[in-house]
Amino acid sequence: MLPANLFFFVVVVFIALATIALPISAERFDYPTANLSTRWVNNAATLQHSVSYSDGSAVRAIVLRSPETFYGPSFAAGFFCAPPCRVFLFAVFIVQTNSGAGITLTENGMAQVVWAANRDLPVRENATLELTFNGNLVLRDADGTLVWSSSSSGQSVAGMEINDLGNLVLFDQRNATVWQSFDHPTDTLLPGQSLMDGMALRANSSLTNSTENQVYMTVRPDGLFAYVESTPPQLYYSHPVSMNKSRKDPTKVTFTNGSLSIFGQSTQPSNISLPLAKSAQYMRLEFDGHLRLYEWSNSEGKWTMVSDVIKVVPDDCAFPMVCGKYGICTGGQCSCPLQGNSSLSYFKPVDERKANLGCAPLTPISCQEMQSHRLLLFADVSYFDVSHTVLNATNRDDCKQSCLKNCSCRAVMFRYGQNDSDGTCFSVSEVFSLQTIQPEALHFNSTAYIKVQLSPSASASTENKTKTILGATISAILILLLVVTVVTAYCVRRRKYQEVDEELDFELLPGMPVRFSFEKLRECTKDFSKKLGEGGFGSVFEGKIGEERVAVKRLESAKQGKKEFLAEVETIGSIEHINLVRLIGFCAEKSNRLLVYEYMPRGSLDRWIYYHHNNAPLDWHTRCRIILDIAKGLCYLHEECRRKIAHLDIKPQNILLDENFNAKLADFGLSKLIDRDQSKVVTVMRGTPGYLAPEWLTSQITEKVDIYSFGIVVMEITSGRKNIDISQPEESVQLINLLREKAQNNKLTDIIDKHSDDMVSHHEEEVIQMMKLAMWCLQNDSSRRPSMSMVVKVLEGAMSVENCLDYSFFNANSVMSGQDQDNPPAYSAPPPPSILSGPR
Ligand SMILES: *[C@@H]1O[C@H](CO)[C@@H](O)[C@H](O)[C@H]1NC(C)=O
Ligand SMILES: *[C@@H]1O[C@H](CO)[C@@H](O)[C@H](O)[C@H]1NC(C)=O
Ligand SMILES: *[C@@H]1O[C@H](CO)[C@@H](O)[C@H](O)[C@H]1NC(C)=O
Ligand SMILES: *[C@@H]1O[C@H](CO)[C@@H](O)[C@H](O)[C@H]1NC(C)=O
Ligand SMILES: *[C@@H]1O[C@H](CO)[C@@H](O)[C@H](O)[C@H]1NC(C)=O
Ligand SMILES: *[C@@H]1O[C@H](CO)[C@@H](O)[C@H](O)[C@H]1NC(C)=O
Ligand SMILES: *[C@@H]1O[C@H](CO)[C@@H](O)[C@H](O)[C@H]1NC(C)=O
Ligand SMILES: *[C@@H]1O[C@H](CO)[C@@H](O)[C@H](O)[C@H]1NC(C)=O
Ligand SMILES: *[C@@H]1O[C@H](CO)[C@@H](O)[C@H](O)[C@H]1NC(C)=O
Ligand SMILES: *[C@@H]1O[C@H](CO)[C@@H](O)[C@H](O)[C@H]1NC(C)=O
Ligand SMILES: *[C@@H]1O[C@H](CO)[C@@H](O)[C@H](O)[C@H]1NC(C)=O
Ligand SMILES: *[C@@H]1O[C@H](CO)[C@@H](O)[C@H](O)[C@H]1NC(C)=O
Repeated sequence: MLPANLFFFVVVVFIALATIALPISAERFDYPTANLSTRWVNNAATLQHSVSYSDGSAVRAIVLRSPETFYGPSFAAGFFCAPPCRVFLFAVFIVQTNSGAGITLTENGMAQVVWAANRDLPVRENATLELTFNGNLVLRDADGTLVWSSSSSGQSVAGMEINDLGNLVLFDQRNATVWQSFDHPTDTLLPGQSLMDGMALRANSSLTNSTENQVYMTVRPDGLFAYVESTPPQLYYSHPVSMNKSRKDPTKVTFTNGSLSIFGQSTQPSNISLPLAKSAQYMRLEFDGHLRLYEWSNSEGKWTMVSDVIKVVPDDCAFPMVCGKYGICTGGQCSCPLQGNSSLSYFKPVDERKANLGCAPLTPISCQEMQSHRLLLFADVSYFDVSHTVLNATNRDDCKQSCLKNCSCRAVMFRYGQNDSDGTCFSVSEVFSLQTIQPEALHFNSTAYIKVQLSPSASASTENKTKTILGATISAILILLLVVTVVTAYCVRRRKYQEVDEELDFELLPGMPVRFSFEKLRECTKDFSKKLGEGGFGSVFEGKIGEERVAVKRLESAKQGKKEFLAEVETIGSIEHINLVRLIGFCAEKSNRLLVYEYMPRGSLDRWIYYHHNNAPLDWHTRCRIILDIAKGLCYLHEECRRKIAHLDIKPQNILLDENFNAKLADFGLSKLIDRDQSKVVTVMRGTPGYLAPEWLTSQITEKVDIYSFGIVVMEITSGRKNIDISQPEESVQLINLLREKAQNNKLTDIIDKHSDDMVSHHEEEVIQMMKLAMWCLQNDSSRRPSMSMVVKVLEGAMSVENCLDYSFFNANSVMSGQDQDNPPAYSAPPPPSILSGPR
């Protein structure tokens, strides 16, 4: 018996050891090199290491390195396609790998392109890459057209390798480099890579379009410089290094672990310090002009931006593409140039939904009609490029005249000097983002004059007579035909749809959200099948327009006419701020009134602070960010947008979160939409019990009611409970009563959210300070509450909370309580006026 047992034991041990050893002893994949006379077809069936990622991108590796450790990021070269994966680049990319299996799929571990051969000419399925017998690397499209080649034939190439720095190298018999991708950088630098004198990084046109745009960064003997292309190029960043004639080494910029070093002619490099690398890194010049450093985070399993490498003065508004062409950047917000004293507009946004893509002139500048050129004045506006084309004009009128005389001039910037005649005049031949300046902050006085073209004149062209007569005859006939057609069509249309006329008037307004047909919205919400929430204004449904998820709100109680509705939509649509939920479009057809908003994946704030849904408690840092976001959104509505808007229904259900927990306010402006026809005075108490300010009882309504509600929301966020919570013991049903008691007895720590260990044990003092800010907002006397901009200052640490606070918080809410407080909808609005009616 014993020997049999022993035998069994030995076998088990052996199997166990073999299993443990298996992944290590299994053959490692490693294909970093390729030989001459090899041809690869861009086809998932023929290329062994092909994977498709969940975002729609895909890679098909040709040469692939094994990772340095058992698994992790590694380099490969092969075909890459960005979503929706129709066309391919021959590229070097970083992929997540496993030394046994090859490329692995992790949720956020998509391939990162760090070099591409054919950015401007992507190829299709079945394109071929060939390393020819004579050492040329050649890319041909599926139909055989030559797309790109390394031009290295006849230079005794022996093979190709992707090396451990991510450099694609063609080497010779002695392992010397004949050609390398590092000599032809695209938009990315890798650790160990150098940008030599004369080389440049050029940014993509957009996140999804790898075509080069006009932004580039280049090394010259006197340093590192970044420009936008135009004639002449416009400088936006410079890092000069000293010149020293006695040294001969060319200037270069090297990216290493921990620094970007600029080796000029002096003995010591000039360094821009970077965060030390914990894992793979790359640095990319992006379409907006930023140079960003990314790092793979093993613990989070994704790439994160760890540094914004270059800085411009005075702030990010001085990046050339921050607001696209002709965009004006004000505190990070983009808008189109709008002449102050007229409703006439000369510019329209390139994409109404994305203000940062810039603006386009309604009438392009034409050098044939210089007499119709005008200069629009924008005071306190400045421009990033001040290094070029200083004109010989020291007063304002000369400056304007010299621009009007030269058709290539598209704008001039004039900086006033001490006297009338010692100003400076800069001319610009292509207008990128402009920035508004605070004259007190920057000690200069700068005005921009932007050239526009008046609408085309009807003046006849200078053609010869016969042509003119012939032309006139033909045009007369054509015009006659056109008139007949138009009149006929008009009558037919008029009979068919009486509303069409009215609708046409609004279709073309610039700055207006997109108009959708009811059918289209019915289709994109799958016949209103997926309800996200419900409120007094109507229900909200999930939908999808193209690739974009949206929330469609169907208004039920909108009684006003189409004109008023469209006017309001235009107002709401023109309010754009990152802390306000964006209105994408609308529908006004017959009696249907719908609004289309951006979709907010994490729903409303109440889901995250009341613990009804088993979400883990938010950490303190996130809570602070959310509070600041709400404050900024409200501050914008109250103080920064053209028409002051009181929200009147601030509560967690109206605060929505995107995937990164950025908070945005929903439902602003809607109160106006609904009540326009009722009265100018607020006759109907609106808002939600629990969040109502005391003055609702006295009808003196100002935007300060929002500040009160904000105070309640801050208290809810810090204490992790509802203001009115009937599941609590009777004495603590109302958070505000509890707050009064704890504040008077100096026991505020008692009400800090107990779910959050982070807050209780590490940030107690900060939480108390936040509660004090809330109490300031909750002052009974609305004039003692801070303004929203003061709240923002306190949150940003630029100001402190008022010292002597009145703790006798009164609330209008006890009068109103006792209604159904449970299950508030995710996208909600005030209950209909009938529930909350006050004096009429
Ligand atoms: C390249 O050629 C060498 C020598 O002929 C051979 O050993 C090696 O396996 C080849 N490599 C590839 C990737 O085919
Ligand atoms: C690519 O080539 C394969 C094999 O020749 C063929 O079956 C496939 O249809 C081709 N794909 C395209 C998109 O042309
Ligand atoms: C070239 O480099 C490879 C590895 O990088 C090495 O195995 C080989 O011996 C080298 N050949 C010569 C001629 O140095
Ligand atoms: C990419 O951008 C270029 C230049 O802006 C444009 O011409 C091209 O159509 C764009 N390609 C796609 C697929 O959007
Ligand atoms: C440039 O385009 C490529 C391919 O579309 C993409 O993978 C990469 O992320 C883009 N880079 C930037 C900076 O947008
Ligand atoms: C210029 O280079 C020489 C030789 O390297 C060095 O001795 C000298 O200090 C340098 N001058 C400056 C101003 O850096
Ligand atoms: C700059 O970085 C380089 C490495 O690239 C390092 O050798 C050098 O000491 C650094 N110089 C300074 C002044 O930090
Ligand atoms: C970068 O340098 C730091 C400090 O010298 C080191 O701890 C880290 O491992 C380095 N990172 C890489 C990727 O080599
Ligand atoms: C704006 O006002 C100024 C001065 O009042 C005037 O000269 C200018 O023509 C006006 N601009 C437009 C577009 O009406
Ligand atoms: C600048 O303009 C003034 C008057 O218009 C002229 O006298 C002067 O010569 C010009 N200077 C240059 C450098 O062109
Ligand atoms: C016109 O303006 C452009 C760009 O500002 C400049 O390059 C050019 O020299 C100017 N031409 C004349 C005749 O002044
Ligand atoms: C800027 O210059 C204009 C014109 O000289 C003047 O009216 C204005 O007061 C100046 N502003 C400042 C802040 O100096």
